[in-house]
Amino acid sequence: MSGAHENAAERERAITEEVLAAFSATPDPRLRAIMRSLIGHLHAFAREVRLTDREWQTAIAFLTRAGHLTDERRQEFILLSDVLGLSMLTVALNAPDTPGATEATVLGPFFVDDAPEIPLGGDLAQGAPGTPCHVSGRIRSTDGSPVGGALLDVWGADEDGLYDVQYPGEHCAGRGRLRADPDGGFRFWTVLPTPYPIPHDGPAGDLLTACGRGPMRPAHLHFKVTAPGHRTLITHLFVAGDPHLDRDAVFGVRDSLVVEAEHHEGGTAPDGSQPRGAWASMTHDLVLAPDHGSAPGR
Ligand code: BEZ
Ligand code: FE
Repeated sequence: MSGAHENAAERERAITEEVLAAFSATPDPRLRAIMRSLIGHLHAFAREVRLTDREWQTAIAFLTRAGHLTDERRQEFILLSDVLGLSMLTVALNAPDTPGATEATVLGPFFVDDAPEIPLGGDLAQGAPGTPCHVSGRIRSTDGSPVGGALLDVWGADEDGLYDVQYPGEHCAGRGRLRADPDGGFRFWTVLPTPYPIPHDGPAGDLLTACGRGPMRPAHLHFKVTAPGHRTLITHLFVAGDPHLDRDAVFGVRDSLVVEAEHHEGGTAPDGSQPRGAWASMTHDLVLAPDHGSAPGR
């Protein structure tokens, strides 16, 4: 290295050291470790790409736009985390190390707490347009025992690829809360999931376009399952054969979560009803990991 370059590198390094020193007395040890690592990686990144003033301004404008778009109905920062794979990496970092448990995936921005209770076997579509789909399975523990009474939150998009919360008004459709029977069994009707784009009319969508990526997610149904003594499971069931399974915009697909949807025309459904026209059915068991005293809410 020539003397001038050596001096420039030393000056850059001195800035990083000064910033690290300023944060070194952070009282909380976890926050201290996080800030040390964050500053180290952030500064190394800026040095590595030789960040220009104009790029720094573009990044600030990008984040400002994300902030202005974010409200209680739209969370652009979570979308950014999703398309950068940070959400899925965080899921993996926090997954229980329990063989046999159903794999977890991203929560996504469309979960609503306190969804209406639906009786077992009921229809949580509540008027959402789409092909009726009967979904059933069993909630089990990794030791094979049934988890009777487990609470299931289920939500999915309609055939136009939209969740109820993306429509104006408060109508709740395509979501509901059910309790598994004493044998852990669950069953309900909803609409057959179809692939849909994540909201891509903001910075996250612009980033995808600029990087030659698409906004599509493969067809899926969301589940959140809670039961005493078990880790809460947040996952999806994906529909086998979807053309987007290998390029999910948010990296959420796990092979073990891909399930065949059987297609039917008329006939008799698993609940004995006789649907008119086309309908579908999916069945899959969900296996919960035991909770060995993990942090609350996990
Ligand atoms: C979803 O599956 O609902 C979703 C996940 C991440 C980003 C956008 C939507
Ligand atoms: Fe979704």
